[in-house]
Amino acid sequence: MIRSITRTALRTNVIRLASSRVALATPRLAFSVANKSTWANVPQGPPDAILGITEAFKKDPFEKKINLGVGAYRDDAGLPFVLPSVLDAEARVAKKNLNKEYAGITGVPDFTVAAAELAYGADSAALLENRVATTQSISGTGALRIGAEFFAKFFPSKNIYLPTPTWANHSAIFKAAGMTPVSYRYYDNKNIALDFDGLVEDLRKAEDGSAVLLHACAHNPTGVDPTPEQWRALSNVFKEKGHFPFFDMAYQGFASGDTNKDAYAVRYFVEQGHQIALCQSFAKNMGLYGERAGLFSLVTESAEEVQRVDSQLKIIIRPLYSNPPIHGARIASEILTDPTLKSQWLEEVKLMANRIISMRALLKKNLEDLGSKHDWSHVTSQIGMFCYTGLTGEQVDRLAKEYSVYLTRNGRISIAGITSSNVGRLAEAIHAVTK
Ligand code: LMR
Repeated sequence: MIRSITRTALRTNVIRLASSRVALATPRLAFSVANKSTWANVPQGPPDAILGITEAFKKDPFEKKINLGVGAYRDDAGLPFVLPSVLDAEARVAKKNLNKEYAGITGVPDFTVAAAELAYGADSAALLENRVATTQSISGTGALRIGAEFFAKFFPSKNIYLPTPTWANHSAIFKAAGMTPVSYRYYDNKNIALDFDGLVEDLRKAEDGSAVLLHACAHNPTGVDPTPEQWRALSNVFKEKGHFPFFDMAYQGFASGDTNKDAYAVRYFVEQGHQIALCQSFAKNMGLYGERAGLFSLVTESAEEVQRVDSQLKIIIRPLYSNPPIHGARIASEILTDPTLKSQWLEEVKLMANRIISMRALLKKNLEDLGSKHDWSHVTSQIGMFCYTGLTGEQVDRLAKEYSVYLTRNGRISIAGITSSNVGRLAEAIHAVTK
């Protein structure tokens, strides 16, 4: 008896539930029919400030077009460069017949250890004392995003101080994680130099204990870095104010051609006792653009603290992408852990850095030979992949429209896109729009 009453009640409920589903479904159906598509109200977004340039470049049918937008190394024939050390490492990895199992949430351990040593130095006390929490990341952008998520959850303030100008993606990454970007002065447009006084003044004005993003080397987009002496002074300001240094090091080796020299700021701050955050990328210095190999690390107080931080990094990463891709990490760790391959790679980094330096000189010379009245000395004094030309948005638009020369609207040139055969045409175009 009880059973049959329950069954009847159950059936009635099922019928009610089913009809309420129909009732729920009807308005949605009506909405979608009336609007043709559920996505009819999705607005058109603007193209990406940097990657959008490549899209525009690809659409241009002109044979002699020049792409100086995205920061990706090209050889003197204007072609992507696969480093011989990378090809060697890839062949060695293939010979090992490794399986394709998942990496752990924080990545391939050989890679994370070697990548951290490259940045901090193998003799770093923080590494030797196991005080650095590390996780492999989807290249530099992924490292920044993990860091931003971690800071949004655990850092006392939600503000992140960013230099003006900075990489076009920084602000979007931190905002997406729930942080609030705040600007600090960095570049002096008038003198085409570091605005060191403005920078220090803004950091002093910032609330004590703020998180401050610093480009470790080869500042993107300006190509202007603090000198070692200025880094030391900045470390003191950070100490005075209790600020937290959040380093982005996407170009280790690209500034000077020497990975140790380019890690000066990171290593100095750690030696001085700062608990830094660090984002690394192997896109530029190993040419592993599409492999997406990077590292996020946090210097902590103890091995015990590393365990807790590590557990939280895993909680952040798991719902994002579970675990990182393994191929690029295997290539990078093969290079970094084999002394012969590593020295070959370091020579190749130098080679790329030197080609960039020689293209800077060539561009300046061509502009001067054309009789340009402007002072182009910043083209050779700036370092790394980019030259912050000082060209206005309107001049950039003219370069694209009239000369098929593509660069970002802030006047940044990726020097890697210059070759000995296109530099003449490039200089003529720049001269024409700056007369
Ligand atoms: C750049 O600044 O051009 C590079 O870092 C590539 C990118 O993803 O923006």
